[in-house]
Amino acid sequence: MSSAAFPENFVWGVSTSAYQIEGANAADGRGPSIWDTFSDSQAACDHYHRYAEDIGLLKDLGVTAYRFSVSWPRVVPRGSGRINTAGLDFYERLVDELIGAGITPYATLYHWDLPQALEDKGGWATRDTAAHFADYARVVHDRLGDRVDTWFTVNEPWVAAFLGYGSGIHAPGRTSAADAFRSAHHLLLAHGLATQALRPSKVGLVLNFGPVMTPGQVGDLSMELPEEDAEAVARIDTLLHRQFLEPVLRGAYPAELLPVIERSAGLDHIQDGDLAAISQPIDLLGVNYYAPTVVQAQPSQPADPAYPGSAGILFCTVPTAVTAMGWPIVPDALPLLLRRLSREYPDTRLMLTENGADFVDVISGDGIHDVDRINFIEEHLRALRVSIEEGARVGGYLLWSLLDCLEWADGYQRKFGVYHVDFATQRRRPKDSAHWYRDVIKRNGLGESRPKRPTLETVAARASVSRATASRVMNGEASVSSEARASVLRAVQELGYVPNAAARSLVTRRTESIALVLSAPRPGGEALTAAVVQYVTSVLEGAGKRITLMLADTAESHRRIVQHVEARLVDGVILAMPDRTGPLTERLTRTGLPLVLLGKPPVASLVPYVDVDNIGGAAAATNHLLAAGRRNLGIICGPLDLVSVQDRLTGHRNALERAGTHPLIATADPTLESGAAAARRLLADNPRLDAVFATSDHLAIGALRAARQAGRRVPEDLAIAGFDDIDAASCTTPSLTTVQAPVAEQAMALARLLLSRLEGRHTTSVIVPTRLVVREST
Ligand code: FCB
Repeated sequence: MSSAAFPENFVWGVSTSAYQIEGANAADGRGPSIWDTFSDSQAACDHYHRYAEDIGLLKDLGVTAYRFSVSWPRVVPRGSGRINTAGLDFYERLVDELIGAGITPYATLYHWDLPQALEDKGGWATRDTAAHFADYARVVHDRLGDRVDTWFTVNEPWVAAFLGYGSGIHAPGRTSAADAFRSAHHLLLAHGLATQALRPSKVGLVLNFGPVMTPGQVGDLSMELPEEDAEAVARIDTLLHRQFLEPVLRGAYPAELLPVIERSAGLDHIQDGDLAAISQPIDLLGVNYYAPTVVQAQPSQPADPAYPGSAGILFCTVPTAVTAMGWPIVPDALPLLLRRLSREYPDTRLMLTENGADFVDVISGDGIHDVDRINFIEEHLRALRVSIEEGARVGGYLLWSLLDCLEWADGYQRKFGVYHVDFATQRRRPKDSAHWYRDVIKRNGLGESRPKRPTLETVAARASVSRATASRVMNGEASVSSEARASVLRAVQELGYVPNAAARSLVTRRTESIALVLSAPRPGGEALTAAVVQYVTSVLEGAGKRITLMLADTAESHRRIVQHVEARLVDGVILAMPDRTGPLTERLTRTGLPLVLLGKPPVASLVPYVDVDNIGGAAAATNHLLAAGRRNLGIICGPLDLVSVQDRLTGHRNALERAGTHPLIATADPTLESGAAAARRLLADNPRLDAVFATSDHLAIGALRAARQAGRRVPEDLAIAGFDDIDAASCTTPSLTTVQAPVAEQAMALARLLLSRLEGRHTTSVIVPTRLVVREST
């Protein structure tokens, strides 16, 4: 095999899925699917009516294989029961046309479009769905089994279970760890039962692989890890990969996973005989690879809902090249993955069933020069070839995807196709990557020379001007003649030149501006507000963004802010109004722009936020008072409509419960006087009171004053602790024990959270740990 050739009989193809391309969602008796309910797909690529034209494109590419998916609700509109023969007829026409074109069909039976009627009965969290799936598999196989030789049961069960039922960012949008684990098991069971139904055809399962590594390893794959990072990597690997690989290929769940499942979902849903059904021998494993999963240990991090059991692990953004999805480009992780699969499951044949990239395409006069996409595919094919040399049993490569199509929750803005689709006219047009892939297939390997991204020199040469002139035009300088400007812009257009972040922003319609929305700080909140302005500005400006500061203090200012954001004058918003988010959050969420909050919102929402560990901090202060021998503790809290105050009360209550006592509660307004009055009430009602915890330092300072007036010695008779560590807490007499809520960390986390949102990365809220500062008052 020459340095760039692939083995003889290597399968070259492309993958698509029904919901992403077919459209015609109400045509010829198709029933609704969970994705119809979750998002409005419109016509997608109208492939249902244009399949013959699309098979023409496959022929032009010269592929030998085409992986498509069958829409369950097109064949069985309600998921079980009545069969829609018109649906089966469509897939028969498709398969016959493929075979007529000399292309081998590979059919996937489940690519996420569950019939809505089955979701209404509990969806994948319900066991019956697996049996219905096997029945549906049998129906399709009865019609097409004589012509389709290789079947894939389920595509990416992790995504279906954990994004559909765990984080809820995919249909059906449920957010329950229990349902997610149950769904994962039932998807595996569905695979096993369907495998039996599909015999004697060849059967495979398709899994999504995101080799798990730390940010350091992205640059150096062989890097050794400290123990806590190694643990984080192993834990995510188990949830993402081994949860599926081990039951299917070895007949058992990983031992360390069972307690995690049990904690969220119990184990009753895993019944006798299930694992035997799930571990039917398969003929091949489909490997979908796009990007690694990058994590590191971070003790304060709450669990990500897509990975129940992942508390203490941070999903990281890495400063490496990314696609427009924000997915890091790491071709070297592919040989790593294939080596591992070959080592651990040596008998399993593999096929790369999906790999490809979303980049912003520029349509120019003479075509779509998607050099980034070509480079991406080429680098991954080189990496694949290395793996095959090493002995990985990979029989084929199916590119994602033939057409620009509907990218699930992201809609139509994502461009994975080697054919551009104009969704207004449904016209298909080959990108350079289509021509390039055709050549790869024709020569069964890669060419020796790589296409290069057009440079400013190329633009200057095409426009017959100097490089300096081209550069001046690109920078918008006025000192250039209008003829020179016109010819440079023409060259830019023709070459599809995308020079740098600024010009790219024109293409992506990014403004590179961020709105930082503030309220006037509440008493004690000044340091936090100042830190937010200081750190958010420096982190975001460091990342090349401009900051627009906006004060939200009146109804009029709220209206102006919403208008500004709706007009897309910014790429994202940081709402730094702890305790006061409410309706403004809701209106900003509806604009669809990336939004992050300072402070946990009062109602659970999907908007990520940064907050301090209020519960843990209050528990620490309370435990400290208990450890000092105090037995009669009172809490001054207020105002109780603030989420942070509620959480601090919860932390206090939890700690007391563990010690076997109950809280004595006095509520207050957030002022010193109100804190003093509350302390007086507590002292009057409970003469044996020997400690007070206040939910803020202002209230605690008021309590100090009341204690002194009542003739109580602090800390001898009465210990007092506060929260927030404002400057005054260290200057009182005696100085005040308090809980420190680190302001700089919150501000930095806020800025980083917004940056990862802007990159389209999966993000979760951040809870910053607090620290107990013990002083003389306790
Ligand atoms: C995979 C899906 C596929 C497509 C690509 C980009 O996870 O299987 O449908 O969305 O991602």
